[in-house]
Order: sequence, then C-alpha cells, then structure tokens
Amino acid sequence: MIKITVPASTANIGPGFDTLGLALNLYNIYTFEEYNNKLIIEGCPDEFKNENNLVYKSFMYVANELGKNVKGLKIKIDSNIPVSRGLGSSSACIVGGVFGANALLDGNLSLHELFEIAVKIEGHPDNIAPAIFGGITASIVDDNVPYYTKYKIHDDIKFCALIPNFETSTYQARKLLPTEVSFEDAIFNISRVAVLLKSLEKGDFNLISKSLKDTLHQEYRKTLIYEYEKVEKICKDNGSKGFFVSGSGPTLMNIVDSYNFALDIEDCLTTLDYKWEIKLLEADENGVKVEIL
Ligand code: HSE
Repeated sequence: MIKITVPASTANIGPGFDTLGLALNLYNIYTFEEYNNKLIIEGCPDEFKNENNLVYKSFMYVANELGKNVKGLKIKIDSNIPVSRGLGSSSACIVGGVFGANALLDGNLSLHELFEIAVKIEGHPDNIAPAIFGGITASIVDDNVPYYTKYKIHDDIKFCALIPNFETSTYQARKLLPTEVSFEDAIFNISRVAVLLKSLEKGDFNLISKSLKDTLHQEYRKTLIYEYEKVEKICKDNGSKGFFVSGSGPTLMNIVDSYNFALDIEDCLTTLDYKWEIKLLEADENGVKVEIL
C-alpha cells in the first residue's frame, strides 16, 4: 500500500499572482492499493466516488504515461484541506494521484517529471510547486516546461487563515480579471514580489505589510468574497501584519507574529453574517511525503 501526504498551500501571496505559493501544515492523506477489477474510492462525498475523481484522474494520467494497465484500484482519502476555499485542495488531489501512481506502479519518473505532469493537469504551477517541494516557491513556465525555486521563511512568521462557510470557483475568479494591465500596475507588483520574498526570509514585518499589496487580482476578485471589507477591517484593526486573499479565495489570510491575534479577532468575527473559521497555520518545509506501507 502507498501512502501520500500532501500539504495545503496558499498561492499568489499578494503581488505574486500565478507565481508565488507557500506550503502549510495542514494535510490531505491518500492511500492507494491494487484491488480486484474494481475502482473503490473512500473518504469523499458519493458524487466523487467515480472515474471523474481528480485523484483517480491524476493517477491514471501517470499510469498512461508509464504504459501500465490498472485492473483495479482502492483509493482512501483523509481530507483536512477545505475544498474550493483557496487552500490548494485540488492541487493536493493532483499531487496525491500523480505521486501515488508513480509509487504504486513502480514508475521511475523523476521529481521534475512528476512536477511537470502535475502542472500540466492543474494548468498553473503556483499551488503545485509548494505542495511538492514545501516552503515558499516561485514558479515560471518556460516553453511549456515549469521551473521553480524555493525561498526561506523566517521562524517568527505565522499564518492565521479565515475560512468562510461559502465556496468560490477559481474559474469564476479568473474570469473577473482584466486581459491587460497598465505598465504602472505591472511595476507595482514586480517590485513588491522581489521585496516581499526577502522580507519573509528576514521576518521584517514592516516591509512584509507594504510589499504584500497588489494591483493585479485582489481588487477585481473581492466582489466574490462576501464581507471582505468587514473582515479586512477587523484584521487590520487587530494588528494583522499582512492581509491577502489566499489563492483565488474565499479564504482570507493573515501573516501574524503571534497567535494571540486569533483571540483578539474571535469575538468580532462572530458578529458577521457568514461563519469564518479561524485556522492557525505554519509553513511546511517538506512538501509531499511518499510512504510504502
Ligand atoms: N493563481 C491562481 C489564481 C491560484 O489566483 O487564480 C488558484 O488556483
């Protein structure tokens, strides 16, 4: 049996649209074993217990690449990453399926080949890279081949995710984006990405909060996130060191220097119409873990 553990991830991190991603210490666990001529999927709603399941589709993508015949398969999913909330749940499913297939079917694909396949399935690399390699990653796609580099993050930096009880679709969130941006906005974001990465490494909270600003996506998308302004005000009034939309939302992420922040905002959040769950998180430095049981 193969066990694959995949971290959640937060993509974009303010100015780094479709580029930056960070792995978080919240995990989905997938197990794979051969099964007699049947597909069995456990641990997800009934509507996903079939051949359209993203974990299964990703598994089969690799099986086909390897030229292996899969007669039957049992997949168990232990899911802790909330679905459609901007915390990399679909990338976790893809990475789980891709790494599960390579391990169960005795594949010899390299880490980079597995990364390439996972990005091909997902369409962009910013959640896939941290889910595989851990830490903060910056990714590019050059001539259809993805590349990534990993940055350090200071130990004092913690995360407080506010996860609402409604979903948003990445497809809808991408449709709201402009097709062109001004030179000024491009410079605004490029400069901040460079400064943000070093500030995260040094734990420079002052520069983190300034360099997290963005002009390319958050302003357009916040219309999809109910109570965005109210939550932003609560967080900023209570000392958030950095506030940004996690991936395409709707989770709103805070960078904090102390988990006391969560106690400070708890009561204010209960006055809102939607339920916002508070999750305290740290960076995961390791990325995907493959175990043969
Ligand atoms: N970079 C992506 C976006 C992340 O913001 O649309 C979500 O998949």
